[in-house]
Amino acid sequence: MLLANLNRAIDKAREAGLLGKDILGSGFDFDVEVHFDVGIFVSGESSALMRSLEGKMPEPRPKYVRTSVSGVNDMPSNLNNVETWANVPGIINNGVDWFAGMGTEKSNGSKLISLSGSARNIGVVEVEMGTSLKTVVETIGGGVVEGKKLKAIHFGGPMGGSIPADLIDTPLDFDELGKLGAPMGAGALLVIDDETCMVSLTRYFVEFLTKESCGKCTPCREGMRQMLNILNDMCSGEGRPGDIELLEEIADTMSVASLCSLGKTAPDPLRSALRYFKAEYEAHINEKKCPAGSCGIQSN
Ligand SMILES: Cc1cc2nc3c(=O)[nH]c(=O)nc-3n(C[C@H](O)[C@H](O)[C@H](O)COP(=O)(O)O)c2cc1C
Repeated sequence: MLLANLNRAIDKAREAGLLGKDILGSGFDFDVEVHFDVGIFVSGESSALMRSLEGKMPEPRPKYVRTSVSGVNDMPSNLNNVETWANVPGIINNGVDWFAGMGTEKSNGSKLISLSGSARNIGVVEVEMGTSLKTVVETIGGGVVEGKKLKAIHFGGPMGGSIPADLIDTPLDFDELGKLGAPMGAGALLVIDDETCMVSLTRYFVEFLTKESCGKCTPCREGMRQMLNILNDMCSGEGRPGDIELLEEIADTMSVASLCSLGKTAPDPLRSALRYFKAEYEAHINEKKCPAGSCGIQSN
């Protein structure tokens, strides 16, 4: 359905002379083609996406050659998100000052935020950069569902991070959120309630990425599996003293030695959880208890 609609819109643009050869008699040629990917997560990584467009296995490659130099079919290639392209007509029509006038000093314009998790209102909303998380979660998201309290806000999906509820006045700003350990990424905002276990949540992201790792490089393939084993043990009451340090060591190795950003940033949810919610990890290991009462082991 999505593909059919996109192709219909492209055909209409071509019929109207807005795509193809000699656009509106200007001598300028430009065309658009939609490719459907095999649908695995790592295909979103730039060099893997280029391979996928060539019909090959979507595996990342080392970055000593940038895709802007040699990308699809070894030609210089520019990769941008559709959201980025969607800003271009507004900037051309209204000028750069118009765009830069919105948002914060370094994070201009607006951002699509996809609200999910325990918010009353979920869905995709467009907000001005600089809007506080409080406005996004409480005013737009309607706050947390009945009977639960806000515990944390997670940004950036499985390779992102969580910040605690008391940082809710933070503005939507790439640098600010990055410094706090919750990079905005593509704008996926997960509202986390007080019945969520931060060890289980990390385990969930790591499990997803373990399945999605392409397996090409050892630090990501093996590191992720070992992290998952340790987190599985913690969530079933089998955590051991030293597990946190071991997780940190694996995370550091993965960040330095993995081939692409999947492996390099896969430990980020763990890092943010240990930064703000370390006591929950310690309770799982030392007391065999889940303070949130939501994973397999005994609650308070
Ligand atoms: C493992 C992995 C998965 C990614 N998946 C996506 C994705 O699904 N959508 C997306 O827009 N960018 C994704 N990215 C980021 C893209 O590679 C790229 O940097 C981005 O889309 C460029 O967008 P820009 O135009 O905003 O600079 C992913 C990156 C990695 C490392």
